[in-house]
Amino acid sequence: VQPDWTAGYVAEIDYTYGYYRELAPAHLRFALALRGVAPPSSGPVNYLELGFGQGVSVNIHAASNRGSFWGTDFNPNQAAGARALAKAGGNGANLLDDGFAELLERDDLPKFDFITLHGIWTWVSDKHRDTIVAIIRKHLAVGGAVYMSYNTLPGWSASMPVRHLMKLHEDIAGSAEQGIQKRIQAAIAFGEQVDNAGAAYFRQVPGARDRLKGLKDKPANYLAHEYFNADWKPMYFADAVRHLETAKLSFAASSNLLDHIDNVNFSEQSRQMLVGIQNPLLRESTRDFIVNQVFRRDIFTRGQRLLNMPERTALLMQSRVALTVLANEVPLKLNAAVGEVNLSPAVYTPLIEALAADNYRPKTLGELVPVLAPKNINPLQIIQAVTLLVGANHATAAQSAEEAAAAAPAAQQFNAALLKMAREHTEVMCMASPVLGAGVPVPRLQQMFLAVLGEQKSKKTPDAAALAKGAWAIMTSIGQRVVKDGKTLQSEDENIAQLAADAKIFLDRLPLLQALGVAS
Ligand SMILES: C[S@@+](CC[C@H](N)C(=O)[O-])C[C@H]1O[C@@H](n2cnc3c(N)ncnc32)[C@H](O)[C@@H]1O
Repeated sequence: VQPDWTAGYVAEIDYTYGYYRELAPAHLRFALALRGVAPPSSGPVNYLELGFGQGVSVNIHAASNRGSFWGTDFNPNQAAGARALAKAGGNGANLLDDGFAELLERDDLPKFDFITLHGIWTWVSDKHRDTIVAIIRKHLAVGGAVYMSYNTLPGWSASMPVRHLMKLHEDIAGSAEQGIQKRIQAAIAFGEQVDNAGAAYFRQVPGARDRLKGLKDKPANYLAHEYFNADWKPMYFADAVRHLETAKLSFAASSNLLDHIDNVNFSEQSRQMLVGIQNPLLRESTRDFIVNQVFRRDIFTRGQRLLNMPERTALLMQSRVALTVLANEVPLKLNAAVGEVNLSPAVYTPLIEALAADNYRPKTLGELVPVLAPKNINPLQIIQAVTLLVGANHATAAQSAEEAAAAAPAAQQFNAALLKMAREHTEVMCMASPVLGAGVPVPRLQQMFLAVLGEQKSKKTPDAAALAKGAWAIMTSIGQRVVKDGKTLQSEDENIAQLAADAKIFLDRLPLLQALGVAS
């Protein structure tokens, strides 16, 4: 039996420690600019994340952007963990354990430029959805933006009954004594029994069986929060729009930048059809049918100021972007909604080189124009190709140089605390980049190497062998070993050899981490 405050929300097993760059102010601004909607202005922001889970995203954003960062999550364990990180990192984030209804009543909140909610809307009751809308109505500034992700239709229509059956089994056959992991396993096993008994649903509905089978490999904390809440309501885009209209919001853009590029989503035939649809609501809904959308990441704004073409181009040209992987790691292929897409080497090779030039220093799109003009790449092609690189997660929108410089000391302090905590805690796999105003994935061993670099006195970067020795000293001091392909390496030699191999990879990546302000 769950305590009262949960309102049917799974609280028995903690949520995963994910970081989501779609919630970063610079990313949201870039997505809005692409759609020709004036974003909240650059500079210190008032920012609120609703239902922050373990609080990785809100903490990283508070550490890497100027402004006042707020968040709430009613799970007190999660709020306590998120607060501990905020305190250790000194990022000044105001992290609460208010339920949404309590937050609505507060009168000590600023008007927010951004309100974000990732993985919330689908998993709460109608009543809480109304409360969220009321929070937005009361606390979002005019001109402010809301990021909201949700499970959507028609993508979920085939497998909604899988969730229904499993949840019903959990409610009826599960017991508190079993614990949630056992209840989940039993529910999946029950679904399989139904399938094995020849249920027509699993035979007749394409994808239903695969969905059920796929669940077996997923971690219990993901499954618990995705499938086993009392509330779970995938929603059509048009219905989400209707809800948010009551807070005076309009749909502005998708935060998934690949959605902005037609030729990776649509065949020529479907593109032609979409072009013919005038009504934006019908057009966006039709897109969801064409790609069979399962999950939307929408940005809504309150009071839309539309940019004309020259204004839009000027804003995009001022936008900065940085690679987040090494140039040689960017594949010239993309798995997209239309299938595998080859990226033209004539455009992408020089663009990636230009982004990597000068030790990966972030660049405005405007800076790229004269570099790429001699290769016959025009500004529109640059905008499209950069959008694709960001959408495919090879690059990320950066904040302005002034904001990056202002955010650097706080981000460094936060990262130092994170590295200290990373000795004992392995969950947070991301660090704060003041350049991006967002997080950058940094795997655990790379965090160890950064800790070794932080400890050393001399200015010279140590070689792989020295880094491996330093990391091994940290690991032995806390009784840890390297795990390779699921196997724990036992001997010191094996551990050091593996660490040295990883240190080489790290040293290749170091200039990138330095350019992003994650390493000094
Ligand atoms: C699926 S998780 C998503 C967490 C986080 N945004 C992420 O994506 O990693 C949903 C979160 O919403 C919180 N939550 C659900 N209902 C809430 C409510 N009424 N008030 C505050 N938080 C709530 C839960 O505790 C949980 O951490």
